[in-house]
Amino acid sequence: MSQIEARIKETAERVNLALENLLPAEQGSEVRLIGAIRYAALGGGKRLRPFFTIEAGRIFDADEGSLLRAACAIECVHAYSLAHDDLPAMDDDDLRRGRPTLHRQYDEATAILAGDALLTFAFELMAEPATHSDPQMRCKLISGLAKASGAQGMVAGQAADMAGADIGSDLIAVTRMNRQKTGALINFAVDAGALIGGASEAEKTALSRYAHDVGLAFQMRDDLLDAEGVVRDTGKAVGKDKARGKVNFVTVLGADATRDRINMLANQAKAHLSVFGSRARILLDAVDFIVDRRY
Ligand code: IPE
Ligand code: IPE
Ligand code: MG
Ligand code: MG
Ligand code: MG
Repeated sequence: MSQIEARIKETAERVNLALENLLPAEQGSEVRLIGAIRYAALGGGKRLRPFFTIEAGRIFDADEGSLLRAACAIECVHAYSLAHDDLPAMDDDDLRRGRPTLHRQYDEATAILAGDALLTFAFELMAEPATHSDPQMRCKLISGLAKASGAQGMVAGQAADMAGADIGSDLIAVTRMNRQKTGALINFAVDAGALIGGASEAEKTALSRYAHDVGLAFQMRDDLLDAEGVVRDTGKAVGKDKARGKVNFVTVLGADATRDRINMLANQAKAHLSVFGSRARILLDAVDFIVDRRY
């Protein structure tokens, strides 16, 4: 395992432990719902968004407790988005993170409700004073997360994804969709680390540009994995996007041009980090992991 992969895994374990403790315990009269919430949020996942928050914050020696709680809140939004993305009305998938999808393990209504609960829990977590002593900072984090997740961010992207070819089958349309669908939350994950770390405006801009490029390259890799990956590695179905008439980078550009674009974005993302010198080493190395990943 490469050094960066080990670092990502180490952060994922910290996030898992924190989520285990932060999420409601599986007991009481809502035990089934809570079981579903925990099933969706725990047990797998690369935890890349938390990684971005934590490592962006570390550039500025930000408080680790604040970073971890903000990272967990963002991961709860991500976990909800996956649970809903897999529903029969959306991508209709049976496998996620190497296990049955939430609605397969429980039932559809429970999967919808567990997703709702994870989304709202994210904001509860962000709003608590333990996340940051400054209420203004908490408000900025809450509004940033809301914007990235909602009708101008991830939900808009998911709507465009469901519209398939109706959004147009060109690079502009697919880029816009993916900026919203995946890019917005990844962008916020990095931005949250910079915010908590008290980055200057110039530093925030540099990190945000990095996140922009990494977010797009991340989704391009996801689209390539759908076209060329294997279930044993991805832990989710492959070869479904084209069959379902989805528009993605590979259906629009083809695999080779998508790979070229990923490399171009990876180099561009790294260049944005140059202002930080060796302080951004981890975020720099993470680019290679993201663009080469098999899962
Ligand atoms: C998968 O995200 C869904 C997309 C946004 C492409 P990840 O690849 O980060 O999934 P996990 O969290 O590691 O399972
Ligand atoms: C899902 O994109 C993006 C979100 C959940 C917001 P995909 O539908 O491509 O993700 P996978 O491939 O199912 O993980
Ligand atoms: Mg989808
Ligand atoms: Mg999907
Ligand atoms: Mg996909």
